[in-house]
Amino acid sequence: MFQSDLFAGQHVLVTGGGTGLGRAMAERLLALGATVEIWGRRAPVLEQAAAELGPACHWRAVDIRDPEAIEAAVAASWDAGRPYTRLVNNAAGNFISRTEDLSHRAFRAIADIVFHGTFQVTTAVGKRWIAEKTGGAVLSIVVTWVWTGSPFVVPSAMSKAGVDAMTKSLAVEWGRYGIRLNGIAPGVIPTEGASSRLRPGDNRHSEPAQRNPLGRVGQLGEIGDLAAFLLAPQTGWVNGQTIALDGGDWLANGAYFTDYLHWGDEEWTAARERIRARDASDRAQRG
Ligand code: HXC
Repeated sequence: MFQSDLFAGQHVLVTGGGTGLGRAMAERLLALGATVEIWGRRAPVLEQAAAELGPACHWRAVDIRDPEAIEAAVAASWDAGRPYTRLVNNAAGNFISRTEDLSHRAFRAIADIVFHGTFQVTTAVGKRWIAEKTGGAVLSIVVTWVWTGSPFVVPSAMSKAGVDAMTKSLAVEWGRYGIRLNGIAPGVIPTEGASSRLRPGDNRHSEPAQRNPLGRVGQLGEIGDLAAFLLAPQTGWVNGQTIALDGGDWLANGAYFTDYLHWGDEEWTAARERIRARDASDRAQRG
């Protein structure tokens, strides 16, 4: 199935495609003949990624918290004669915190990206597929917390559960337009952006590997392959499914971050300082 022209003629939008899981999926789809457009908030990061991924990779600086920016970017792509035929909802925001420490702005910082932003991108693209009767396919990256919940990442768990509900709901509502929606719920696939906000100061990953039924964490290539599988024409009857990609971890171990239950003020203050330092350096790269 994975011939080098599997995605010939397909133009795939990958939100958050400049780094981490998004970049890995973009890379795999490009290798299978797709053209890709990556979105993110940091232009220098996107520009660099696109240069490395080759001429079939386009980029656009878009903050998916801004519905007008989404509409304008989608319109620009159609106007340029490069309408998206597939969408990968990958952009996310997250950090660990005791829930009682979150301000309403902290909750919104996550929900505006994951919950609202994912919906806005999906409908901006889906409306065009419906109007033009082209059909399409959406893949949303969620997480196994949609089934287990997870302490210390409650805004993310709530928002990702909403994206999973969108996947199931629109799979039924938009099936008649030839649009199908599926999800991937990854376990621990170490990336710099996630590790710095979920395991600040600890990038060893030995513990998640040891507790995993298969004895290891995930690899970036594995999410690229599953994304390609779910977006390929050959799986055109797979609809409304979220597939765990975690080596069986959630079945064995359930929720993440229970090891933080014993943390006190000191650990939480140190974690927050490390995460905020990382955020500040990211922010400096945004326009
Ligand atoms: C408590 C915090 C906080 C922290 C931010 N806030 N970090 N509160 N603890 N560690 C609060 C701030 O104090 C502020 O509220 C509010 O949140 C907004 O903060 P800003 O810094 O202004 O927001 P912004 O610059 O927009 O940053 C958004 C972000 C940031 C989500 C906070 O982390 C980000 O941009 N992340 C994108 C990349 C990312 O997170 N990648 C990891 C994805 S991992 P006040 O009240 O003070 O104004 C993932 C997991 C999936 O999604 C599963 C994988 C297995």
